[in-house]
Amino acid sequence: MHPNPASFNHAIMDAYASELKASGHEVRIRDLYALGFNPVITLSDYAMLDRGESPEDIRQEQDHIRWAGVVSFISPIFWAGMPAVLKGYVDKVFSLGFAYSFQGDRPKGLLRGKKAVILNSTGGSLMYYRKSGMLDSIRTTIDGGIFRFCGIEVLEHRFFMGVPIATPAERKMMLAEVRDIARSLPP
Ligand SMILES: Cc1cc2nc3c(=O)[nH]c(=O)nc-3n(C[C@H](O)[C@H](O)[C@H](O)COP(=O)(O)O)c2cc1C
Repeated sequence: MHPNPASFNHAIMDAYASELKASGHEVRIRDLYALGFNPVITLSDYAMLDRGESPEDIRQEQDHIRWAGVVSFISPIFWAGMPAVLKGYVDKVFSLGFAYSFQGDRPKGLLRGKKAVILNSTGGSLMYYRKSGMLDSIRTTIDGGIFRFCGIEVLEHRFFMGVPIATPAERKMMLAEVRDIARSLPP
């Protein structure tokens, strides 16, 4: 989730995907900006989803999620959360009846058995994130509010901090961490 193919986030995606492929995994990449994914949920989307039907752009993405054993989100942190395009992706694709349902008044995750990896880059430093409580709040909303809510086990949520001021050597170390994470995934 980054509009710039020369960004550090793209470098993370390239390192992650190539290491996964080298370990024998099949990889599907959904580069939401390159795809021109429309994150705005419309009135007609709402109407169709209410009838238990998925509009074409949503159905395609749900097929990818259905296929995946591990769903990985790679993105910068924008305003203490996900970039709008990714938030809109979750709004539309992780829909009622596909990602969760209700038993009485109790929510039930429908994506049990799947796992998630979240790789986020930040402008802020680790010290700021820890002191402010922001690290815990982002983990709570993304890991708990989205993935675990849908029954998905979060294997890893890693933050790469202070990316805009990181030295080339620090960036290299971060990408080595990314490759380690890819290698640690179950076959
Ligand atoms: C719209 C916008 C909002 C941002 N909000 C935050 C933020 O809330 N916290 C933070 O640490 N960094 C924030 N940043 C900085 C980015 O997270 C940082 O520049 C990015 O992770 C660096 O990765 P890149 O080189 O791949 O762009 C923001 C950047 C933009 C453009």
